[in-house]
Amino acid sequence: MKDTSGRNINYLRISITDLCNLRCMYCMPQDGIEKKHHKEILSLEEIYQVAKVAVDLGIHKIRITGGEPLVRKGIIKFIESIAQLDGVKDLAMTTNGLLLKKYAMDLKNAGINRVNISLDTLKAEKYEQITRGGKLKTVLEGIEEAKKVGLNPIKINTVLIGDFNDDEVENFVELTLKENIEVRFIELMPIGQASTWARNRFVSNNSIKERISELIPIYDGDKHSPAKYYKLPGGKGKVGFINPISSHFCKYCNRIRLTADGRLKPCLHSNQEIDIKTALRHHIGDLRKLMEEAILSKPSQHTLNDLNHEPIDRDMYRIGG
Ligand code: GTP
Ligand code: 5AD
Ligand code: SF4
Repeated sequence: MKDTSGRNINYLRISITDLCNLRCMYCMPQDGIEKKHHKEILSLEEIYQVAKVAVDLGIHKIRITGGEPLVRKGIIKFIESIAQLDGVKDLAMTTNGLLLKKYAMDLKNAGINRVNISLDTLKAEKYEQITRGGKLKTVLEGIEEAKKVGLNPIKINTVLIGDFNDDEVENFVELTLKENIEVRFIELMPIGQASTWARNRFVSNNSIKERISELIPIYDGDKHSPAKYYKLPGGKGKVGFINPISSHFCKYCNRIRLTADGRLKPCLHSNQEIDIKTALRHHIGDLRKLMEEAILSKPSQHTLNDLNHEPIDRDMYRIGG
């Protein structure tokens, strides 16, 4: 279905849980995280109902996110059911990778085509620091397992953080020389409680790209991808830059989001949310109508760089990226 800016909305990002087995500094507060009562979170059956309507409206790409999606019980059966919806052409997941060693094979068998894995540093100590306790080795084993079972292409999401990992860019880029993986550098977005922290550590992707003069621009065939792609001469993989701040890609945005607590979010950088949980549970209003309403109310672009930008209340772990 088209929105009022003529963009074809065909990508649904579903956050199936706001729980996570990490506490990344730009995403979650260290403590004081209010654990939602299970009734406040959509059941997997309810999420399936929403996905079904979305697919009817023309969604053909679905990404499962969190929190960390692999901590939710029943995930594999749920993925099987989504994969069987007629019309889903691309079913992917964004994960921190900690549980991939255990689940990669099941995910592949259930119908996940590919995974994007969040990894901000290649140094064990720093990984433990930024994630507040995570073990790098576990993620690396997860990535290996994902490769082994053929969850391709593997994309590594690296959020650029000033004075933390901007000195590791070359090491990440080097990974794409020998292996067919995509490393994508993401500009740190000020969202939720970590907004001020994030603004103080912002590094623009352009400054990083200039440092790696060998990169050759390539087009990966998807104009809706938030990433602009490059490769090293002779490199097997790709290097992507996702620049939501320095040059936003709103004109090509094709997505809408569902939060674990049952809200549709037409734009990541707007506080506007449409409650569909009430409709699902009490048959008030029509789910399809609400989804159409959400698509039609999608703003033409975000206002993050405007002086009067309204700060985003929700933390990233409760949106799903
Ligand atoms: P592909 O389907 O592989 O291209 O994945 P994706 O980039 O759509 O999803 P992923 O979960 O890997 O997100 C990568 C980064 O892009 C994250 O930091 C997201 O927050 C950011 N991102 C995804 N969608 C949007 C969007 O609509 N607006 C903005 N500003 N950022 C987005
Ligand atoms: N800015 C940019 N990217 C973020 N992510 C989480 N929070 C932020 C932020 N504030 C990334 C995660 C994950 C993806 C879904 O979003 O690292 O890879
Ligand atoms: Fe968890 Fe991802 Fe947020 Fe890190 S960025 S705390 S892995 S949801």
